[in-house]
Amino acid sequence: MNRQTTGFSEKSSAQVVAASFAGTPDVRLKQVMTSLVEHLHAFVKDIEPTEEEWQQAVDFLTATGHMCDSTRQEFVLLSDVLGVSMLVDAINNRKSADATDTTVLGPFHMVESPRRELGADISLDGNGESCVFAGQVRSSDGTPLAGAWVDVWQANGAGFYDVQQPGIQPERNLRGLFLTDEEGRFWLRTVVPRYYPIPDDGPVGQLLTATERHPNRPAHIHVIAEAAGHASLVTHVFVEGSPYLDSDTVFGVKETLIRPVVTIDDPLRAERYGVPAPSDSWNSTSFWIECSHEP
Ligand SMILES: [Fe+2]
Repeated sequence: MNRQTTGFSEKSSAQVVAASFAGTPDVRLKQVMTSLVEHLHAFVKDIEPTEEEWQQAVDFLTATGHMCDSTRQEFVLLSDVLGVSMLVDAINNRKSADATDTTVLGPFHMVESPRRELGADISLDGNGESCVFAGQVRSSDGTPLAGAWVDVWQANGAGFYDVQQPGIQPERNLRGLFLTDEEGRFWLRTVVPRYYPIPDDGPVGQLLTATERHPNRPAHIHVIAEAAGHASLVTHVFVEGSPYLDSDTVFGVKETLIRPVVTIDDPLRAERYGVPAPSDSWNSTSFWIECSHEP
């Protein structure tokens, strides 16, 4: 049902437009539209755009939409560089204060990770410095979680994901789905990822250039941990010492998620991971993941 829309003025605009949604049957949609109108009108009143500037805004959003396809999501990038993705993550993970910190999923989890055995090498192109990635999945009360799924994906030593380089990198390079052992542990072979720029050849890249912001993310490994009876956890492990840890363009870094990559010099650990030690050529990084009980 259309509501009365008279009485529109610069002063009353938000009130009049919000009232047009008063009959919305879906309570959540009504709340969202009312708040959107109030904040959007306040924003426009704050910046007082010229008509040319408003057209520029429309053109920017149009170009952002045109840049989207099955392998490129420019709106997600826009949400990321404006910090909205991290804000939504923060709002939705307040309950797990005692669990491992979460961070953004990112745009590269677009293919399913292949199931791999513990200890498998996920680097199919060998591009990068060899590394063991190991850890344990625990409940937030400390109990090890056997049979938990750990989904891992990352860029190679040149800073590219497999889906960005079809025909250059093997399919499913640097992706793997692992099941933790009876002690909740997981380990795999990989390479140390490099920092990388988010795709910056579209409108979001132009925005970063115009505002003199760089497009880079510090080196990281993506992880999703899932265990029965527990909230699933989406996070990253950041490589200590990587450039851009203090200026991630999507605001994803949390201090608690930074880990050093160290040379494996303990023969027992090397034996467990099946790599030579002491060795200059094998490094490792460890990550203990704590999942909170399902609310
Ligand atoms: Fe990433």
